[in-house]
Amino acid sequence: MSSPIIPARAKTVIFDAYGTLFDVHSAVARHTAEIGPDAGRFSEVWRAKQLEYSWVLSLAGRYEPFWTLTEKALDYAFARFPDVDTSIRPLLLEAYRSLDAYPEVRETLRALKQRGLTTGILSNGDPAMLNAAVESAGLADDLDVILSVDAAQVFKTDPHTYELVLRALPVTASEVVFVSSNRWDIAGAAAFGFTPVWVNRLGLPDEYLELAPSAVIGSLGELD
Ligand code: LAC
Repeated sequence: MSSPIIPARAKTVIFDAYGTLFDVHSAVARHTAEIGPDAGRFSEVWRAKQLEYSWVLSLAGRYEPFWTLTEKALDYAFARFPDVDTSIRPLLLEAYRSLDAYPEVRETLRALKQRGLTTGILSNGDPAMLNAAVESAGLADDLDVILSVDAAQVFKTDPHTYELVLRALPVTASEVVFVSSNRWDIAGAAAFGFTPVWVNRLGLPDEYLELAPSAVIGSLGELD
């Protein structure tokens, strides 16, 4: 079976993790009362810095595990919002290891597998944090492969990261549907030759117009 979103040639559907399967803002959301009125902005700065550090290190030819960048970005957020009590640092990090999965994730993965497609993750997350997130969301049985850029020692959008999918599975790039809510990640996947599907839950404006998604959906439920 095929749909306009998943072409007939597709053999596997690979997902970005943070922001796509897991809600990165659910960590702060669990502690909004302790953080106070800046909770939303605090979470945005935490996420933005985590990503910025991944790109800057990659361009500089350096690598540190994504968990380390997550901790450093959190410390930056505390520095930017000095009214937020740093004693909740361990609680926020614990919450980040067990983020909420979006509600439609499990059913979507199962429906794809029923169609004979393999499913997997390709994430900047290091293996330990990815396994913790997958286990706590109860998704281990619904994913065939969990791939971390740690094996390439560089972050997305470096092509070596997307190539990990072709090393792990007997597929060519054009047989891979790559799903991400991060528009920059869709750009990287398009440049590599995957079929990129952008999950634009928030209705954000399009960008990277030369590296376009093959489809745009509002929720993962539209994949099946
Ligand atoms: C990931 C981050 C970038 O999971 O969201 O790769």
